[in-house]
Amino acid sequence: MKQQTSAGDPDHLISVQSVVVDSKDRLWILDTGRVALPDGSILYSSYGGPKLVGVDLSNNTIFQTILFPRNVAYPESYPNDVRFDLRPNITSSGQGIAYITDSSFEGRNGIIVVDLGTGESWRHLENLPAVRQEPGFFFTIWGESVYNNVGGGQPITPFGLGSDGITLSADGETLYFSDVGGRYLYSVPTARLREHKSPTAQLLADGAVSQITQKGVSDGLESDTNDYVYAGSFETNSIYVYFPQNGTVSTFVRDPRLQWTDTFSVAGNSGNGYLYFTENQLWRRPANQGGIDRRVKPFALYRVPLPDHGGKILLK
Ligand SMILES: *[C@@H]1O[C@H](CO)[C@@H](O)[C@H](O)[C@H]1NC(C)=O
Ligand SMILES: *[C@@H]1O[C@H](CO)[C@@H](O)[C@H](O)[C@H]1NC(C)=O
Ligand SMILES: *[C@@H]1O[C@H](CO)[C@@H](O)[C@H](O)[C@H]1NC(C)=O
Repeated sequence: MKQQTSAGDPDHLISVQSVVVDSKDRLWILDTGRVALPDGSILYSSYGGPKLVGVDLSNNTIFQTILFPRNVAYPESYPNDVRFDLRPNITSSGQGIAYITDSSFEGRNGIIVVDLGTGESWRHLENLPAVRQEPGFFFTIWGESVYNNVGGGQPITPFGLGSDGITLSADGETLYFSDVGGRYLYSVPTARLREHKSPTAQLLADGAVSQITQKGVSDGLESDTNDYVYAGSFETNSIYVYFPQNGTVSTFVRDPRLQWTDTFSVAGNSGNGYLYFTENQLWRRPANQGGIDRRVKPFALYRVPLPDHGGKILLK
């Protein structure tokens, strides 16, 4: 029997994980290309499904659609989150770069890099421990164990995803990333990720990854003009902030409403900057609760003012 796959349609959105506004005020839509069925299973993608779609917000028109080839977005890839650096001098095509996490839960993990000028894309950090779920990873939220548990006598397994959260330093020269299946924050110089043609590009990129610090269990990441890096901490109902200036992590905000904090986004200029984030109750969905939906409406979007006159990083 032929295995069911998602439609590979470049003109329709299949299953979008992330929407991000770049420093030129354009909206980018990142499509995993993978259909989720009502029973919680997620079908493989087909070529044309996984894509990055650019929308001009002045007239709501699509100005660019970048399809990922099959050796960049595999059928089991899950392009999850994306950050943009539009500085003209970082590529010869001059239109900037996108960095994307592949958080695949059943396949290979890594970072996908896209030249927005040529539409070319490539992978880096393929299956390094830094982009993989940690073996035996276990965590709780509100003291409740979190597992993959679809019910119906199916196996109960550790919940975890590979590289998922992603954000850039204020100068665009450092990429931060983290796994949902681990507690570490990692970094890599972006110049190493952009380089992909030399025979040693892969060795140099792999060797340039740093394990910076623990920061709790989180999903999305975000950063601001002070270079501060924000990450949720599901187990402590907090958002932590990492200061690259002195290497410490502090509690930024703590509140019982903070649980599965995700989809961080900084908006606003210095003095009027906010950290926006969602609470999606992801671990209470049927696929984690033995088939029972324990989510309780409403879902919520919050914002918190940034410290020290922080604002949105504008790399252009
Ligand atoms: C939308 O606006 C952009 C720039 O403002 C322009 O280049 C483009 O042609 C416009 N598209 C349409 C369909 O009007
Ligand atoms: C690009 O230009 C900026 C200044 O606009 C500079 O700080 C940066 O080092 C340059 N980057 C590269 C890769 O040349
Ligand atoms: C580390 O640096 C941050 C940002 O400058 C500052 O707010 C924090 O107090 C510093 N922490 C320590 C322990 O020095």
